[in-house]
Amino acid sequence: MIRRAQAADVSAIADLERRVFGSRAWSFRLVAEELAHPAAVVLLDETHDGLAGYVGLRIAADSAEVSTLAVHPDLRRAGIATALLAAGEILVRARGAEHLHLEVAEGNEAARALYRGRGYREVGRRHGYYDRSEDALLMTLDLGATNG
Ligand SMILES: CC(C)(COP(=O)(O)OP(=O)(O)OC[C@H]1O[C@@H](n2cnc3c(N)ncnc32)[C@H](O)[C@@H]1OP(=O)(O)O)[C@@H](O)C(=O)NCCC(=O)NCCS
Repeated sequence: MIRRAQAADVSAIADLERRVFGSRAWSFRLVAEELAHPAAVVLLDETHDGLAGYVGLRIAADSAEVSTLAVHPDLRRAGIATALLAAGEILVRARGAEHLHLEVAEGNEAARALYRGRGYREVGRRHGYYDRSEDALLMTLDLGATNG
């Protein structure tokens, strides 16, 4: 089941953040601030009896961005990220966004394959973005062309 995250979900999200992103994880406070932000939406997947994954989105006028995306390490390659992204894409498009942007570490082959498969295009690069040692690739999805 995919649903919108609420304040009561902050602990579970922050726990999974830490597990997935380690030292780069958003803290409990940052997760709480994100959930409270008027331009932010966080969607959760609870299909597997607990928090399986989440996607964070920010919507601003005619464009939106994916701020975070994570799936529990034991539950990968089961289509959870695909389902979360599909739901997020529908939601931001319904709110008027024409493009969905994101940043991904160049070495993150799993995420890059996921995004490519959904039609995201590489449109730019930020040198040394991650800990100054790894580039970030900027990717964009034209929401007029998404499959939902
Ligand atoms: C990237 C991530 C979100 C993918 O989640 P997931 O639920 O396993 O992804 P899905 O099952 O929806 O995968 C969809 C497609 O993406 C690609 N993909 C996903 N994981 C992959 C991997 N490890 N290697 C290669 N391709 C991969 C495949 O094309 C896959 O389709 P397939 O399983 O039919 O081959 C997950 O690995 C994760 O949480 N990684 C750590 C956090 C992260 O990198 N977040 C993104 C930050 S930009």
